Amino acid sequence: MTGLNRQTFPVELEITFRLAKRTDLPKLEWYGQYAHFRTVFRRTFSEQEHRRRLMLVADCADFPIGHVFIQLNSGERGLSDGRARAYLYSLRVMEMFRGKGIGTRLIEEAESIVRELGFGWTTIAAAKENPRARRLYEKMGYRVFMEDDGEWSYIDHEGRMRNVHEPCWVLEKRLGIR
Ligand SMILES: CC(C)(COP(=O)(O)OP(=O)(O)OC[C@H]1O[C@@H](n2cnc3c(N)ncnc32)[C@H](O)[C@@H]1OP(=O)(O)O)[C@@H](O)C(=O)NCCC(=O)NCCS
Repeated sequence: MTGLNRQTFPVELEITFRLAKRTDLPKLEWYGQYAHFRTVFRRTFSEQEHRRRLMLVADCADFPIGHVFIQLNSGERGLSDGRARAYLYSLRVMEMFRGKGIGTRLIEEAESIVRELGFGWTTIAAAKENPRARRLYEKMGYRVFMEDDGEWSYIDHEGRMRNVHEPCWVLEKRLGIR
């Protein structure tokens, strides 16, 4: 009955870190899982064109399997101010690709981009319900410096207003000079 035995073989995948392009927008919905963020992705992409935000993706075979977005200027001095501090957010890796270092690498790449843009600090938020994310950031040198009630809203792909309430820790890291 060898035909019923489980056969495994390792596959090597090449992951490239790059900024999102327009053709990524439908793919960022991950086959419907994040369709509700359609207008958010579009708006963020338009902000990238004006260099107010950046969408860094982990690309595997021309598909964005992970991403972190970077807000360069929020108007809120604690998070990002266009000069010294940049805010990393919306860090996400497709479930089957987790635990392989891609999330860590996305943050490192984002830090390196903002460092090259002249920023000295990065900030990032971890939902209080997500202690693993907080641990990951602390392992990478981030320290909690404030809390946020995590209230925001957006219009979903069906035109409905969605309100988010996700209290979080906000962490910061001073970027070393390379
Ligand atoms: C958090 C996340 C981006 C990490 O991506 P990743 O590619 O798995 O990360 P890495 O392989 O580089 O690092 C793994 C670390 O992430 C953390 N992690 C793993 N799975 C996680 C999960 N489902 N949720 C939160 N953190 C997780 C663990 O602390 C792990 O550290 P460890 O190896 O010391 O246990 C990914 O798990 C994810 O997309 N989670 C859901 C979305 C999310 O929670 N985003 C953070 C928003 S605050």
